[in-house]
Amino acid sequence: MRWSPLKLLLAATVLVCGSVSAEPALHNIYGRQHLLLDGRWNYIVDPYETGYYNYRRQPYDQSEGGSGGFYDDRKPKDKGDIVEYSFEGSPTLAIPGDWNSQDAKLENYEGTVWMRQQFNAAPKEGKRYFLYFGAVNYEAHVYLNGKKIGSHKGGFTPFQFDVTGKLKPGQNTVIVKADNTRHQDDIPTVSTDWWNYGGITRDVLLAEVPETHIADYQIQLAKGDMRRIEGFVQIDGPQRAQDVTVTIPEAGIKTTVHAGADGRAAISIPLTAKQLHYWSPEDPKLYGVTLSSATDTVNDRIGFRTIVTHGRDILLNGKSIFLRGVSVHDENPLIPGRLRGEGDMRMLLQWAKEMNCNYVRLAHYTHSEEMIRLADEMGLLVWAEVPVYWTISWQKPEVFDNAKQQMTDMIVRDRNRASVVIWSIGNETPVSEVRTNFMGRMADTVRSLDTTRLVGAALEVHRTGDEITVADPLADKLDLVSFNEYAGWYWANNSDMLKFHFNITANKPVIITEFGADALGGYHGDADSRWSEEYQDQLYRNQFKMLDAIPGLRGMTPWVLVDFRSPRRPHPYFQDFWNRKGLLTQSGKKKQAFYTLKAYYDQKQKQYK
Ligand code: GCU
Repeated sequence: MRWSPLKLLLAATVLVCGSVSAEPALHNIYGRQHLLLDGRWNYIVDPYETGYYNYRRQPYDQSEGGSGGFYDDRKPKDKGDIVEYSFEGSPTLAIPGDWNSQDAKLENYEGTVWMRQQFNAAPKEGKRYFLYFGAVNYEAHVYLNGKKIGSHKGGFTPFQFDVTGKLKPGQNTVIVKADNTRHQDDIPTVSTDWWNYGGITRDVLLAEVPETHIADYQIQLAKGDMRRIEGFVQIDGPQRAQDVTVTIPEAGIKTTVHAGADGRAAISIPLTAKQLHYWSPEDPKLYGVTLSSATDTVNDRIGFRTIVTHGRDILLNGKSIFLRGVSVHDENPLIPGRLRGEGDMRMLLQWAKEMNCNYVRLAHYTHSEEMIRLADEMGLLVWAEVPVYWTISWQKPEVFDNAKQQMTDMIVRDRNRASVVIWSIGNETPVSEVRTNFMGRMADTVRSLDTTRLVGAALEVHRTGDEITVADPLADKLDLVSFNEYAGWYWANNSDMLKFHFNITANKPVIITEFGADALGGYHGDADSRWSEEYQDQLYRNQFKMLDAIPGLRGMTPWVLVDFRSPRRPHPYFQDFWNRKGLLTQSGKKKQAFYTLKAYYDQKQKQYK
């Protein structure tokens, strides 16, 4: 079996430390043969790391070849044997699902929880097996049948471990140690304005692929060229040099490319004028695409569109567009907890559609693949973001590596999704030289991985008197002037916010990534009464007046679709640990401002017909 340099490096790592950090995940995991390991997992709460260290804090962890940890899933040998833990008989969590929302004792819990699932497998010769996690917040250590198979840091992006040869015929046991403790040097850092939901928050799959398989591919329109599909296909395994045929039957496309010894082949398909029906929010056309090689076949559903800027315009399929958006957290307010699956994801996106949105900012971290695929299907453009949020430890190389890895994993996962048009490298990061260097390298990372989309960030602005200036040096590295402003809420109020005006010199499209006001649903007063629906509504009306004065305004994602939970919002009456800037209440009731924003978007839609 020939090993690529990456594989050799991974193998060496295993030899040295007994486990590896995760490898790049298979693209289009749901399109592979797979067993879903979701369902009820037994769990043990472990605030003192009893299952990972002995009482002298000596590691049981198998990275050091130890044993004795909870991952052994030991049972007493006889009546004289002592084992002080048991997954049998422990309570269960619904996976995917954070633990905070499923056990009242864990609502605020930050620490380690061990989770166990058992499943039957029938491993076959000539197949590769990957244990794939959609996301685990924040640090995961994974064990299969009592053996460490790897670890991963980062709470919102997928990862996988090659478990070929480690599965037993019949029953297998996977145990995950998840730890959502926050640290200053993590991405995000210790301070965020959202709930720190811990655990296995997205699907877990056991994928089966041929030994030589199609590992990755990109099939998109070339940047700004509606007459050419371009991309690549990457084969992995011992027989990489293969022909790969790409077929898009409904578009009359069938082309064969030849992967070399490295398993990679470029794809370039010229198109006639009317050969493709382009994807757009109004008409989200998806095509069946099949990639087949001598040993593997993968099916996908892909939309084709271009997105470019031209001066202050954003052009979708060559036509100027206004991004009628709203910001969205990955949280179902009715639980409340992390989104669990298609049902609650569709609920959030349907609320956005009801507001006549054609665009959503999926803040402040990578949302699930299912959410992005739903946006493809429902016709919503997407701003996708990594949680480089607020006061990151800019100066530490390992922190940059973490941010870069999360950005890479997001792009690799979603780069065939028509809905994703903007990769965001972060939110509200205080300007400094070390930060601008860090973020500039993040922007370079995006462009090295994907030339077909725009690069953005929610920049901060600075106010001098009534003038709001956008002069962030990072803006030079971005395709958009995109920033958060809280005129009327954190700055001034409804009666005097119209004094503000903007000083924006860059000749680029302007997107307001956040503005808004808290309103407790059902609390009423006049337009000067903070926390009232009337105040929020009036602020939105004032914002439209103020923002429409910006010549390059081409979009906005008011903060926020629906009230969401935050440890930073303790006011007992108005907040109760909820951020109330939602246009809908935590029970999904529309506030007055919901209708005002919809009316504004109806008018914008006509203007950009
Ligand atoms: C910031 C931040 C959000 C936060 C919002 C607020 O702009 O980006 O994450 O929730 O302000 O204060 O409500």
